Amino acid sequence: MEYVLAITGASGIAYGVDILKKLPSKKVLILSKGAIDVGKYEMKGGLTERVLKGYADEYYDEDDFGAPVASGSHRYDAFIIAPASMNTIGKIASGISDNLVTRVASISLKERRKLVIVFREMPLSTIHLRNLLALSEAGAYILPASPGFYHGPKGLGDLYGFVTSRVLDIVGVENDLIRRWGE
Ligand SMILES: Cc1cc2nc3c(=O)[nH]c(=O)nc-3n(C[C@H](O)[C@H](O)[C@H](O)COP(=O)(O)O)c2cc1C
Repeated sequence: MEYVLAITGASGIAYGVDILKKLPSKKVLILSKGAIDVGKYEMKGGLTERVLKGYADEYYDEDDFGAPVASGSHRYDAFIIAPASMNTIGKIASGISDNLVTRVASISLKERRKLVIVFREMPLSTIHLRNLLALSEAGAYILPASPGFYHGPKGLGDLYGFVTSRVLDIVGVENDLIRRWGE
């Protein structure tokens, strides 16, 4: 199995980092330039861009259209964007493929592969809602980064864990990151 994960320039980089750590290999990471900018504010406690790239099996910059994942002929199982900025969501919803993140999203939709979009934005404008609806209608999974509280979170890790668990469920990765309702 091969999973592609993009982190884009929205607040909530920690959601993407948690998913990256918990995905099994093979994991391919793309960081947008926006993610690198936001990461300067949000990557703390020794988490540097270099450390982040170290969690992945392969890494590509957003400009790298020569990356294997830039072609529909390269097979991967799921593409996750977490967090997804409203800029990236708007571009994908409009069919724009101007960087490796939007290109892989476009491929995922045309090849009918799993596209999982985790967004954090609030509140949402009508335009954001229309873009998210367009992506859902095109087959993407839309996940607001809004963790539940019924699993008794004891810290931030349990809150990221809730969102990561839902993402892993969708891409078919067995996990027991949270106590499930009824267990
Ligand atoms: C500190 C910081 C936080 C940001 N938070 C968000 C956010 O939560 N949501 C969002 O859509 N954009 C946010 N932005 C703006 C995006 O980073 C900007 O629109 C950028 O062009 C996104 O590029 P990308 O989609 O290629 O990653 C933030 C920017 C900075 C510097």
